[in-house]
Amino acid sequence: MSLTHREFAFDTSDFERIKLTLYKVAGIKLANSKDSMVYSRLARRLRALGLNNFSDYIYHLERNSNELEHFINGMTTNLTSFFREAHHFEMLKQQLMQTNGTSRIWCAASSTGEEVYSIAMSAAEAFKSLAPPVEIIATDIDSSVLHIAKEGIYAKNAVSALEPIKLKQFFHKGRGFNEGKVRVVPELQKLVRFEKLNLTDNNWGRVKGPFDVIFCRNVMIYFDKKTQSRVLKRLVTFLKSDGLYFAGHSENFMGASHMLRPIGKTAYKKVCDSGNAKK
Ligand SMILES: C[S@@+](CC[C@H](N)C(=O)[O-])C[C@H]1O[C@@H](n2cnc3c(N)ncnc32)[C@H](O)[C@@H]1O
Repeated sequence: MSLTHREFAFDTSDFERIKLTLYKVAGIKLANSKDSMVYSRLARRLRALGLNNFSDYIYHLERNSNELEHFINGMTTNLTSFFREAHHFEMLKQQLMQTNGTSRIWCAASSTGEEVYSIAMSAAEAFKSLAPPVEIIATDIDSSVLHIAKEGIYAKNAVSALEPIKLKQFFHKGRGFNEGKVRVVPELQKLVRFEKLNLTDNNWGRVKGPFDVIFCRNVMIYFDKKTQSRVLKRLVTFLKSDGLYFAGHSENFMGASHMLRPIGKTAYKKVCDSGNAKK
């Protein structure tokens, strides 16, 4: 634990209790080196609540179910971008063009929305229409990022790497309060339903399979092996036979060949006889 002077008392036992709580409520396994990160992410909650030390914060957290939401929102890492791992979106377009009827797509840790709007833009491009035959569900455990995603308003630098044609077709320039920002066009927003969902919960509530495509990228890395395998097994049951599964760049499922077969870089197809969810 770092010895630099801190505004709030925070010791190893506080860190251990926070680590345990985060693991229990979100499946997120923190490394021992993450104490400074925990401190800086939660210090603003202590300030907001007028508390003097982490021990009092943990006491408050354990007795106020409302605080849990702030705690989770503070502790998640939400890094994302438009068309991250661009090859997945090319594969998605190919798959959509080969599918008859409406394709159901689940973006399972959608963060602030860049990923799910990249999916929606790809669908619009595949069908040359702002009303493509897709139904998209975007979920995340963090209610604050879901709020940003629903709004669909982004700083200009978030879209600076997009081709000008995409900017023109899929974004409006912000005005007034949103001057200097861009907003996803309402037609794309209408394609997406947002839901709060914890992948490590046993109940996935309003999200019902089966899906043609699941994006579950750059979230499994926060889980331990046991949790990864439990979540993956369940996600695969939410895929149609032959459905597509996209994983993050550092996530590989070498031990899951009975469920998923690799079809490209971090892209998989469901192995047909590996089971479906009871809906
Ligand atoms: C690094 S971001 C990845 C965002 C996006 N999928 C991407 O690849 O660009 C990880 C996201 O996973 C979410 N997350 C973390 N634990 C989760 C859980 N147990 N259930 C659902 N989402 C979770 C976080 O809130 C965060 O928005």
